[in-house]
Amino acid sequence: MKNLQELVAEVANFVAKYPEKPIFSLRPTLAAYQGQDWQQYIAFEDTHYTRQVVCQCPAFEILVLGWQVGQGSPFHNHAGQGCLLRVMQGVLHETRWQWGKTHLNCYTSNAISYIDDQMGVHQIENRGPQPAVSLHIYAPGFFCAQKSSSPEAILLNPGISTKTV
Ligand SMILES: [Fe+2]
Repeated sequence: MKNLQELVAEVANFVAKYPEKPIFSLRPTLAAYQGQDWQQYIAFEDTHYTRQVVCQCPAFEILVLGWQVGQGSPFHNHAGQGCLLRVMQGVLHETRWQWGKTHLNCYTSNAISYIDDQMGVHQIENRGPQPAVSLHIYAPGFFCAQKSSSPEAILLNPGISTKTV
């Protein structure tokens, strides 16, 4: 696959054909994307990480996230969505909280990770030394997570902030 347009088409085909299937199955599809057009969506802010929309519809969305050194997300769930992430540039660390156990994962360029609410909650951060960019596929679309500084709080207090993460 040489551009995002082809990736969007493949993801659209998958979610139309298998609406109930977790998008973990799209891992090889995301790995097969070899384009450079993700770079058009790179954006960095000094105060927080950025989210650039490549494609957004009720069935799925594709975003490019830009992380300056030291920037990160709070702990968040995925509000019923599957989240497939590929690191396009730099290195990202994930703290994954799974029912009382915490795992630290490190994803280097081209690594792919998947999470959904059945697998726990997580926090992503760029611990440096260079800016990082990640390409995300979410399904269904219109992601609206619960987030908190405490992973337990997300699971115990469903009323917590639902700002998009
Ligand atoms: Fe996430």
